[in-house]
Amino acid sequence: MKSVALLHASQLVTLAGPKRSRIGAEMSELAIIRDGGLLVRDGKIDIVGPSKEIAKQAKDAEIVDACGRVVLPGFVDAHTHLVFAGNRLGDFERRSRGETYEQIAKTGGGIWSTVEKTRAASDVDLLAQAKRRANWFLKCGTTTIEAKSGYGLTTEDELKILRVMRSLNDDSETTKPVIRESRIATEERVGIGTRQGGAVALEIVPTFLGAHAIPKNMSASEYVDLVINEMLPRVASEKLAEFCDIFCERGYFDIEQSRKILTAAKKLGLKLRMHVDQLANSGGAKLAAELGATTADHLEKTDEQGIAAMKTANVQPVLVPGSVYALGSTCYPRAREMIQAGLAVVLATDFNPGSSPTPSMPMVLSLASTQMKMSPAETVTASTINAAYSLNRGDKIGSLEPGKVANFAIFDCEDFRELAYWFGFPQTHAVYVGGERLA
Ligand code: NIG
Ligand code: FE
Repeated sequence: MKSVALLHASQLVTLAGPKRSRIGAEMSELAIIRDGGLLVRDGKIDIVGPSKEIAKQAKDAEIVDACGRVVLPGFVDAHTHLVFAGNRLGDFERRSRGETYEQIAKTGGGIWSTVEKTRAASDVDLLAQAKRRANWFLKCGTTTIEAKSGYGLTTEDELKILRVMRSLNDDSETTKPVIRESRIATEERVGIGTRQGGAVALEIVPTFLGAHAIPKNMSASEYVDLVINEMLPRVASEKLAEFCDIFCERGYFDIEQSRKILTAAKKLGLKLRMHVDQLANSGGAKLAAELGATTADHLEKTDEQGIAAMKTANVQPVLVPGSVYALGSTCYPRAREMIQAGLAVVLATDFNPGSSPTPSMPMVLSLASTQMKMSPAETVTASTINAAYSLNRGDKIGSLEPGKVANFAIFDCEDFRELAYWFGFPQTHAVYVGGERLA
C-alpha cells in the first residue's frame, strides 16, 4: 500500500497523551502541532510531527497538502442507532405542535412505529438504508460508530439488524475502491439495494439492544425471559455484538428487569452500556456503577449521587445533547459536574429516527459548548480519544499517534474551535480511513 504524507495542517490536533481516557484538566490538552503533518504507512500512522520533519521523510509517499486547514482524528461516535427502516416525520411534526416524546410513543408513534417498519423491511433493504446513512457519518468527519440493534424486538428481527451491521463491516473491506471511483455511482448501487455495491468505510461496533421496548403482544416479564433465554445466547454464540445495552427508563425497563438482563449478558461475556435517567431519575446511573458497565448514556436527570457512583466504578458517561435539542427540551446533563468529578466524559450523536436524527458530531460539539458549557477542547477529547476508550479501541483509534490506524479528517477552518463555533453546515474537506481518502 502506498505511503501518504499529510503536510501543512494549521493545527494537527493529535490528542497524544496517556494511554487511557482523559479526565479533568487533561480533557483540555489536545497536544496540537502547528504546521503539523504525519506519515502513513500501510494504513497506519508512522510518524507525527512538524511538516518540515515529515517532508524530509516523505520520499516516494503521496503528498496530501492540508493547505493550512485543521486536521483531527476521525470522530468516534459511541452511541448510535444506525439500522432502522423509514423515518419518524409524523413524530417530528407532532412534537412541533407541542406533544411530548412520551405522549407520542403512547399513541401511534415512538420506538414501536419504527419497529413495525423495521420488521417489515428485508435485510437487503435495511442494508441499503444503513449504507446511505453510514456515508452521512463519514461526510461529517466520523470514522467509527457504535451501533445498537433494538428496532426488531423478536429474536429473528434483532439478529437481522445485527447481521446487517456485520455486512456493513465486511463490505467496507471488500469494496473500498468503489467510493473512490464515484460516490454517486455508489449511491446508485445502494439505491438498487445490492449487497456488493456501495462501500461503507465507517467502522461499526455492534451493540445488542433487544431491551429497547416491550413488544405490544407480550408482558414485560415474558419479554425479559425471551431476551435472556433466547436472544442473548444467540447473539453471544454468533458473536454478533460486543456490548449489551438496555433502555432503563420509566415505561420501558425498570431497575430490577435491567439488572436481570444485564447480569445475564455479562455472564455471556458481553460488556455493558446503558440508556439511563433520560426522562426521569430512576437510579440508572447507580445501577450502571453496580454492574460495572462500561458506559452510562443520556444522564439528563442524573444527580450528584449518580455522578459519584459512576466515579467509584469508572463508568464513562456518554452525553447526547442532540437528543435533548431535538426533543425540544432544555434539560441537558450536568457535564461540568461530571468533568469536575473526574469522569471521562464522552459525547455522541445518539443518531436515531425518533429523538436524535443527526449524524453530525460537529453539531453535537456546538451543543455541548453552548448548552452544557464544555470548552471546545473538552468537546474534542470527548468525541475522539475518550469515545475510543469507551469502545475498547483506545489503543487503535481516537488520536493521531504512531501505530494507530490513519483515520483523520481535514476541516475547512484554521482553528479547531471553529468546528463548534460555526454551526449548521458541514466544514468537512476530506476524510481518510486507514490512510485512504474516502469522503
Ligand atoms: O436513545 N432512548 C431510547 N432510545 C433512543 C430513542 C429511540 C427512538 O425514539 O426511536 C434514544 O433516545
Ligand atoms: Fe440511544
